Amino acid sequence: MSVHKQAKRITTQVLAEMKANGERIAMLTAYDYSMATIVDQAGVDIILVGDSASNVMAGHETTLPITLDHMIYHASSVVRAAKRALVVVDLPFGTYQGNSKEALKSAIRIMKESGAHAVKLEGGREVRESIERILSAGIPVMGHLGLTPQSIYKFGTYTVRAKEELEAQLLREDAKLLDDIGCFSIVFEKIPAGLAGEVSAAVNCPTIGIGAGGACDGQVLVLHDMLGITQEFSPRFLRRYLDMGDQMKEAIGHYVKDVRSRDFPNESEQY
Ligand code: KIV
Repeated sequence: MSVHKQAKRITTQVLAEMKANGERIAMLTAYDYSMATIVDQAGVDIILVGDSASNVMAGHETTLPITLDHMIYHASSVVRAAKRALVVVDLPFGTYQGNSKEALKSAIRIMKESGAHAVKLEGGREVRESIERILSAGIPVMGHLGLTPQSIYKFGTYTVRAKEELEAQLLREDAKLLDDIGCFSIVFEKIPAGLAGEVSAAVNCPTIGIGAGGACDGQVLVLHDMLGITQEFSPRFLRRYLDMGDQMKEAIGHYVKDVRSRDFPNESEQY
C-alpha cells in the first residue's frame, strides 16, 4: 500500500517517505475551520495557513499587512479541523527577518497558541540563522524560494523568477542550503519547470511547487483560487476546479428573490 494511504496522520517523516517512494504530495491553503474540515476530509496531505490570508481573507493588495496575531487566529481554527493533514503556518512579514531570536519567539507563539505542526518562512541564505534557531527548538521549518511575495516591493512584479542563470544559480545554492540545515520541505513559487525539476532531484527534502511545473515532489494552490471563489486572479499555473464564486452568487441571488417574494420561509420552515 502507498505511504500516504497507510498514514493516519501526515508527519514530516511521512512526507520524506512519500518522496522516497515517488508519491506526489498534495497541499492546499485554508484559513478557517469549515474550509479546513473539507480540505482535510478530501485527503490533502498538508494544509498551509498561508499569509495569502492577507489577500484572500482581508482584501489587502499584498501579504505584508497580516500580523502574527491574525495568523495565530487563522491557524488555531485550521488546527481544530485537521484530523489527518500536517498544518504548516506562514511566519508573517516582519516577524523573523530582524534577528533569529525574534524569529524563534514568533515561531514558538505560533506553535504554542495555535497547536500547528510546522512553520514556513520565505528566503534563503539571508534567513539562515533564523531557520537554524527555530529548528534547534524542535520546530519543523518549510522553506520558500523563487517568487517570495513578502519581497514584492523589491521585485516590483509577480513575474516568473530565476529565469536568468545568475538568479537560477542562487536558487540552486539556497535550496541546497535549506536542505542541508534541515528544512523538511521547500516551496518553489513561479520558477521555470526545468530548474524546479533539477533542484527537486538534487535535494533530499520534498519540494512543493506553485507555478513550478510537474517535476516537484508536490503541488500547492490557494484554495479560494482553485475553487473559483477569487475571480480576478488567473495566472497560467492556476487550474480552476470549480466556478464556486458564480455558483454562490446564483444561490444567494435565489435566496434574495425568495425573501423578497415571501416564498422563504414557507410553512414547513417555521415553528
Ligand atoms: O501564502 C501562501 O498561500 C503561500 C502559497 C502560495 C505557497 O505561501
